[in-house]
Amino acid sequence: MKTRITELFDIQHPIIQGGMHYVAFAELAAAVSNAGGLGIITALTQKTPSDLAKEIDRCREMTDRPFGVNLTFLPTVHAVDYPGYVAAIIEGGVKVVETAGRNPEAVLPALKAAGIKVIHKCTSVRHALKAEAIGCDAVSVDGFECGGHPGEDDIPNMVLLPRAAEELKIPFVASGGMADARSLVAALALGAEGINMGTRFIATVEAPVHENVKQALVAATELDTRLVMRPLRNTERVLNNPAVERLLEKEASLGKTLQFEDIVEEVVGVYPKVMTEGRVDSGVWSCGMVAGLIHDIPTCRQLVDSIMNEAETIIRQRLKGMLV
Ligand SMILES: Cc1cc2nc3c(=O)[nH]c(=O)nc-3n(C[C@H](O)[C@H](O)[C@H](O)COP(=O)(O)O)c2cc1C
Repeated sequence: MKTRITELFDIQHPIIQGGMHYVAFAELAAAVSNAGGLGIITALTQKTPSDLAKEIDRCREMTDRPFGVNLTFLPTVHAVDYPGYVAAIIEGGVKVVETAGRNPEAVLPALKAAGIKVIHKCTSVRHALKAEAIGCDAVSVDGFECGGHPGEDDIPNMVLLPRAAEELKIPFVASGGMADARSLVAALALGAEGINMGTRFIATVEAPVHENVKQALVAATELDTRLVMRPLRNTERVLNNPAVERLLEKEASLGKTLQFEDIVEEVVGVYPKVMTEGRVDSGVWSCGMVAGLIHDIPTCRQLVDSIMNEAETIIRQRLKGMLV
């Protein structure tokens, strides 16, 4: 399959693995890139820019295919050395950056000067148009279904993707709710030129997270996610668990007076406990509604191959067969 996304990023298949805190280490990024997609390392999981530089080196030892780095601009507890991370990306010879969260305008000149392609992940058409206007090469359009931060507009991909197609000139991938060949073909039909998957890639053999996390995703249904931090306008879709229930009770009882400090216990420092130690109930962690479509733990190659092979069958047989 050839699309503007495969051409732009020099990849075999139009499948991207989104940056994921404490999941998207070199092992996962390399496995996705080796399978013909675009693997992405999450910069901020690396504590310092020099740690990121080492992670980029580790990834390059595991793959000779293109891979990317995610730079997330969201509220953090500690100040982040963004110029340092950008320098590590450029010096590491990375050719693709996925930005997410706030407007990435401040880092674009340095990335563009280094010949790096930038795909900005956002949750609305207006932010996608802004990304296009400031010179991003592509966007990842993240629908309301997505794991992580769906924004505050709550537009699912069935409407968001064709709206993006109506307005954008640069290519875009569909993100949020993508799991299999059906997702890919649907996304293409709605105007996207590829897919970005988060949650689905966690339940793979190579994802360097605790087995409990993978089993939690296999066990979860599409009814098992919740939206937290809505009152703080920092909405996150997470897998439900007792910590999430506690947090939602605090949100309900404190109402408009809720402060970030009230929920620190459920939110801060959770990812290593969940992803590394496998304590999946220790706090809130991102998960998409797509968990309902995850029933197995394949290798990244098996996953990507099955998506591409079955997509071809859907297009050539199911869809073509419907034409009279
Ligand atoms: C556990 C987890 C952690 C994530 N961490 C980040 C992150 O640090 N930065 C980011 O831009 N997106 C992050 N995301 C969002 C994904 O990159 C991707 O956009 C999203 O998962 C797509 O929706 P899906 O889960 O339905 O595939 C995270 C998602 C999950 C599930």
